[in-house]
Amino acid sequence: MDAGDNNRVVVFDTTLRDGEQAPGCSMTLNEKLRVANSLKELNVDVIEAGFPAASPGDFEAVKAIASSIEGPTICGLARCNEKDIDHAWNAVSNARKARIHVFVATSEIHRQHKLQMAKEEIIRSAVDSVAYAKSLCDDIEFSPEDASRTELDYLAEVVEAVIKAGATTVNIPDTVGYAVPGEFSNVFKYLVANVYGIEKIRLSAHCHDDLGLAVANSLAAVQSGARQVECTINGIGERAGNCSLEEVVMAIKTREEAFGLYTNVDTRRLYPTSRIVANVTGMHTPRNKAIVGDNAFAHEAGIHQHGMLQNRATYEIMRPEDVGLSRSNLVLGKHSGRHAFRERVEQLGFTLNDSELNRCFEEFKHLADRKKDMYDADIEAVIMNVDVGKAGPWLIENLQIKAGTGKAAEAELTLIHADGFKNTEMAKGDGPVAATFQAIEAITQIELELKNFEVRGVTVGDDAQGEVTVTVEYNGQSFRGHAVSTDIVESAAIAYLEVINRIERRQNSSKTVNNPE
Ligand code: KIV
Ligand code: ZN
Repeated sequence: MDAGDNNRVVVFDTTLRDGEQAPGCSMTLNEKLRVANSLKELNVDVIEAGFPAASPGDFEAVKAIASSIEGPTICGLARCNEKDIDHAWNAVSNARKARIHVFVATSEIHRQHKLQMAKEEIIRSAVDSVAYAKSLCDDIEFSPEDASRTELDYLAEVVEAVIKAGATTVNIPDTVGYAVPGEFSNVFKYLVANVYGIEKIRLSAHCHDDLGLAVANSLAAVQSGARQVECTINGIGERAGNCSLEEVVMAIKTREEAFGLYTNVDTRRLYPTSRIVANVTGMHTPRNKAIVGDNAFAHEAGIHQHGMLQNRATYEIMRPEDVGLSRSNLVLGKHSGRHAFRERVEQLGFTLNDSELNRCFEEFKHLADRKKDMYDADIEAVIMNVDVGKAGPWLIENLQIKAGTGKAAEAELTLIHADGFKNTEMAKGDGPVAATFQAIEAITQIELELKNFEVRGVTVGDDAQGEVTVTVEYNGQSFRGHAVSTDIVESAAIAYLEVINRIERRQNSSKTVNNPE
């Protein structure tokens, strides 16, 4: 650990690894790159970009992030075997700063029932793997999975052994979210007091939120010697999720006098990053979510509003602008120019290059023709969705719906294919959305199993945009499609077709790989 840097808490973001493992949160390569870019702008120290041995898609995503994102350390996860470690290294080795993260479970329940390995065997496997990883990369993190349920003396033995083998960060996971703050704090104090060489490495906390204690446990850990917190944007992750990055970072910043610590995170990027992850995953934050929820800075009660008018600090412990919330009721409309649009996009915390800005501005103009007032959430939706439904090969040319009470709805749909042909189908269904999905399947000849259908109003008013997220299964694999439009049936059609397009593109690319001619 750097001398003189003992008050800095390293922020290790695992949105793209532990977060992405959560049901319904899987992301495409482009989505992962978009999230990785926003994490870089947030100035996190480490991005755990994935688990390269898990699948070829994971490997490619970690490699693409390592090759294109400069600034944070890029980390790949590996189990304790050479094959996993080789995959992780091959994926991250292009990064300016690379890390391999090796893990094995150490608790009795995992030793007996999952691994069927004795204590000594686990230590040997951990040491051999850390030493092997160290022969490839200087920066090695080791995690004893389920550490919080591991016997303390055995945990200390494992930690001491991996430090000797070359680990530079040792991460203590509360894998099943079982710990409570006092107890978790004691684990760190025990390791600090009993492990030879512990002062040479960085201790880290990795907490899950099964009891709603992930942030509290992470803060207890930093008060007892941890100088890295592992977290995810919006707290997404397995089951109840991981420690929420925005909450732990703002607790350290807002209560500086309590912790005496700091992070390098640019907190003004928290809100935009949260919106990007919510949009990409379709996992929207509850309105009352700390820091980034819609109500986090809303004051409704008259007595609060009165106090706020006298002095904001009466009821506000953080300033909305410090977390990047620059909500405004400034409404843009169809007469707003490119300059005003660009300014608002920047105030909302998005960084777009010229070509992205041009595409978004065009989309904004189309939307402004259909919608009287454009709110911030409309602009965010334009940015997040500007290319959705345009990647093909199928594009919607025309969709007509006939629906009424007491009879089946009818959809007449025309799709154009990138190969130059077009097809029209009529289909019936219980409602307009079901009829549209039937028509899409009839034309594309791809049948999906709809698992979940969610509609959300992006803004208010009778011309508000509707955001549709569909989760479907195809050949046992889960896919998510997402679109926004002023017409909910159109959003649903674009979201459904987005999934079909992804499947067809994947089928075409595997045909090209297997059969180059
Ligand atoms: O929760 C956990 O134990 C993990 C490890 C792989 C660090 O995610
Ligand atoms: Zn985890």
